[in-house]
Amino acid sequence: MSRLTVSINFALSADGKISSAQKRPSGWTSREDHARLLELRKGADALMVGRGTLESDRMTMKAPHDPLRCVVSRSGEFDPEHPLFHTPGGAIHLLATEDRGRKGREIPGAILHRGSVEHFLDELAGLGVRRVHCEGGGELVFVLLERDLVDEIHLTWAGHRLFGGHGAPTVSGVPGEFLPASRQFELTEFDPRPETGECFLSYRRVREAGAQ
Ligand SMILES: NC(=O)c1ccc[n+]([C@@H]2O[C@H](COP(=O)([O-])OP(=O)(O)OC[C@H]3O[C@@H](n4cnc5c(N)ncnc54)[C@H](OP(=O)(O)O)[C@@H]3O)[C@@H](O)[C@H]2O)c1
Repeated sequence: MSRLTVSINFALSADGKISSAQKRPSGWTSREDHARLLELRKGADALMVGRGTLESDRMTMKAPHDPLRCVVSRSGEFDPEHPLFHTPGGAIHLLATEDRGRKGREIPGAILHRGSVEHFLDELAGLGVRRVHCEGGGELVFVLLERDLVDEIHLTWAGHRLFGGHGAPTVSGVPGEFLPASRQFELTEFDPRPETGECFLSYRRVREAGAQ
């Protein structure tokens, strides 16, 4: 397994949801939340999102130090017209995990990888990446959690709003399969912001010897 660190960042509503509806941009919950999102990018060698988030949030995944910009897909159906492919920034690495009988679509200027998410992380480690920062969405993060690849969680608890709905996604996707085991994290930051009614939280994975 690769030795790089994987962190995730999400804004949560009071009901633990990350979005009011699939395919709708989540945006940021406050100016401070946006500032924190940019701050968290600073420590990353690579930024990563699922193709759903890339599409719904029209992400260009930029930071001043030009981290790699990674997008994960099963189908490899990347839209060459997406702004990501027309915005200068870090090198773009695309992952298509499934062939589904057709070749993942090559995008000029982007590097297309094939294989599992774990293999992709190993390939990024081979490129010198030490920290991957994933900004969603829930479907991709479910898989990262399922394979116990998440080392840090960063949350903006935006308890001033409810996204609501059984089908609205959470950090680990829409309600569905259980994780093979619960994952334990310890609190490393607790930063309430009364002026916005939000709270910034950070957690680090606790992996005890012999524990699941
Ligand atoms: N509140 C927040 O902080 C926050 C953060 C991020 C996103 N969001 C919101 O979440 C919603 C998007 O959620 P989502 O669950 O659809 O997003 P997602 O996880 O970003 O994207 C889902 C897509 O990613 C690919 N994917 C997921 N798991 C994969 C795996 N194991 N292997 C390979 N590819 C995989 C698939 O792409 P293909 O279809 O190409 O196969 C899948 O359709 C949007 O409304 C967005 O605004 C909110």
